[in-house]
Amino acid sequence: MTIKPFKLERYYSQYEFTAKYSLCNSDCEAMSIGDLLAMEEGATEKFHQHWLGYTETKGHPELRRDIAATYTNILPEDLLVFTGAQEPIFLFSQAILKAGDEVIIQFPCYQSVQSIPESLGCKVLNWTVRYDNNVPTFDIADLEKLITNKTKVLYLNTPHNPSGFHFSRAEQLAIIEIARKHNIIIFSDEVYRELEHQPQYTIPGFGDLYENGISLGVMSKAYGLPGLRIGWLATKNKAILEQVAILKEYTTICNSAPSEFLAGVGLRNRDKLLARNLQIIDSNLPLYDRFFEKYAHLFSWYRPNAGPIAFVKMNFEMDDMVFADKVLKEKSVLLLPGGIYDYPGYFRIGFARNGIPKALEVFEDYVESTMIPNLKS
Ligand SMILES: Cc1ncc(COP(=O)(O)O)c(C=O)c1O
Repeated sequence: MTIKPFKLERYYSQYEFTAKYSLCNSDCEAMSIGDLLAMEEGATEKFHQHWLGYTETKGHPELRRDIAATYTNILPEDLLVFTGAQEPIFLFSQAILKAGDEVIIQFPCYQSVQSIPESLGCKVLNWTVRYDNNVPTFDIADLEKLITNKTKVLYLNTPHNPSGFHFSRAEQLAIIEIARKHNIIIFSDEVYRELEHQPQYTIPGFGDLYENGISLGVMSKAYGLPGLRIGWLATKNKAILEQVAILKEYTTICNSAPSEFLAGVGLRNRDKLLARNLQIIDSNLPLYDRFFEKYAHLFSWYRPNAGPIAFVKMNFEMDDMVFADKVLKEKSVLLLPGGIYDYPGYFRIGFARNGIPKALEVFEDYVESTMIPNLKS
């Protein structure tokens, strides 16, 4: 199998731990094991006694019960637990697709849904974001035009990385109707679900609503626990789950037992985790509002109604990769340039980390000291 390098992950492995400030992370602020365990009475004691044997391939039954509680129709037996969200994207695609199949992806995208099907010999068709007055949308009429009798899977991602777009309930139902009519599997990457900025923007998981829908979830983003490396697939389609389970026995076999325990604590306390993380988002968004209002001649942003990230348009002539590189070299502030997504002229920002106010201050210093004088000269 030949597969393209994952540009975003390569970029992060190069700079994430060396840049002093980051303005672009997509995960919420993490916490220590001690702080997580303190959320539940008796959890510290139980964690120390937790058994370090192999666990069930499907995921610990108690953990699957806790994950099922985050859906409406999904039951513990409709779940398969994995190492993060990346493993199930990889294994689902390997299990379900064959050369010649067509898949549709939202573009730009988190690269795995593009590169893995391509590596399998599939034709990948882009359902490309449209910007209307700087507001991103995915037009359902555009989607319908991409469907043929070879379309096997529609990969969705909502809230969307990188645009921040989030489907409404009406759009969700319309997409399911189309998929049902053409017998298309929906693989819905919902790693940012439950980070809707207001309750009215919440939509159910696709796995809850559609018999051939699969919801991808993870502890990494909304719950801010990426170090656990616990993710899952949720679907009523038993045949798909079984095909993927067979492949998982060739990769990780089962999950890390301590991580499964800790993920359970996180999920049982998810209301507290989400309230904390939404509060961080709520406090950072006004800082960006002020920044983008002040520098409207340089940048335009769409303020999302869900999720921890947004895509910022550059209103000046410079390659986005060059721009990000300059900001990094001069101020040690990490931005995620659109070139990483093959979508130039933009960069991604994040707003669910405690370090954002300081990182934005240093970025503003770059704008004032370097960009503004250059524009004037
Ligand atoms: C949309 C999307 N899906 C999947 C992943 C992978 O998640 P994880 O790192 O938990 O495997 C990411 C990570 O950034 C993502 O943004």
